[in-house]
Amino acid sequence: MQYNKLGKAGIRISEISLGSWITFSKQIDLNEAKTLMHAAYDHGVNFFDNAETYAHGEAETMMGKVLQEFQREKLVISTKIFWGGEGPNDTGLSRKHLIEGTKNSLRRLQLDYVDLLFCHRPDPSTPIEETVLAMDYLVRGGYAFYWGTSEWSADQIEAAFKTAEHLNCIKPTMEQPKYNLFFRDHLEKDYLKLFEKYGLGTTIWSPLASGILSGKYNQGIPSDSRLAKEAWLVPDNLMQLVEKTKKLSVLAHDLDCTLSQLAIAWCLHNPNVSSVITGATKMDQLLENLGAIAVKSKLTPDVMKKIDTMMR
Ligand SMILES: NC(=O)c1ccc[n+]([C@@H]2O[C@H](COP(=O)([O-])OP(=O)(O)OC[C@H]3O[C@@H](n4cnc5c(N)ncnc54)[C@H](OP(=O)(O)O)[C@@H]3O)[C@@H](O)[C@H]2O)c1
Repeated sequence: MQYNKLGKAGIRISEISLGSWITFSKQIDLNEAKTLMHAAYDHGVNFFDNAETYAHGEAETMMGKVLQEFQREKLVISTKIFWGGEGPNDTGLSRKHLIEGTKNSLRRLQLDYVDLLFCHRPDPSTPIEETVLAMDYLVRGGYAFYWGTSEWSADQIEAAFKTAEHLNCIKPTMEQPKYNLFFRDHLEKDYLKLFEKYGLGTTIWSPLASGILSGKYNQGIPSDSRLAKEAWLVPDNLMQLVEKTKKLSVLAHDLDCTLSQLAIAWCLHNPNVSSVITGATKMDQLLENLGAIAVKSKLTPDVMKKIDTMMR
């Protein structure tokens, strides 16, 4: 396992990490979460991702119980604030919700601090100055070591940097964008200036496009799969994505790896990706996905070109 710097920050995070969206407390129970987190850690994963909204806080509660079995300093834990409940002050990036939401997350995670704290979405209804000052307060107050954004546009992220500079506040360190073989533009085009100018790090999500890139949907939707259980996640163009996945499977076969490993290795290949957050409901998925590390070296310029052609 390689440990990457998070952009220009000093902290080092495992190139593959494990997230809890839809899985923790919805698809897997506490014992399964324990087994998966321990196996991931034993394979070198040090970064575990969460959010206040996952399973309405239950994902944090579950992860918090497992975290008691680890030495805190060995881990990098993140959470994300934006959707904390139904009330008028339970959502968004106001000073009130950011600070209360973070304290509630820490209570559920049974932690004094998270390493990485994300603003889960942009909030155009809150002045950026208020959000930046609240994140500055949280970092200076020891509730988090680094703060960042998730699914913000390049302009919104740049505004956060400029505001922080102007107010003498702590600047964001990282963004958490979706990135996979089907969804590339944010990371490969929009954010390029931010990597160069500010040394932004990234912890990317849905490397398998919710499992589509594993090939599991090539013959329909299996009843025990995410898309069967969470129908709202079925993309309108599923058949088109499946056709592209089928083309990739020939290449995976030639490279002597699985489709999931090829798709994750392709994400790891991008030097602006600090960590690829994977999700897993089963141990064999986790172990297979961790095998992507060994596939990285097979992604020669020629192979990368072939992949680009297949994805067009
Ligand atoms: N910042 C954000 O807005 C945001 C949004 C979404 C996610 N995230 C973070 O990113 C993490 C990863 O995202 P994701 O869960 O969408 O990742 P993903 O890797 O695209 O999808 C994970 C799902 O695909 C299936 N799968 C995984 N490996 C497989 C394999 N080898 N073979 C077959 N099926 C496999 C499993 O679902 P089934 O077994 O149920 O089919 C698994 O739960 C999340 O847990 C969360 O922490 C962040």
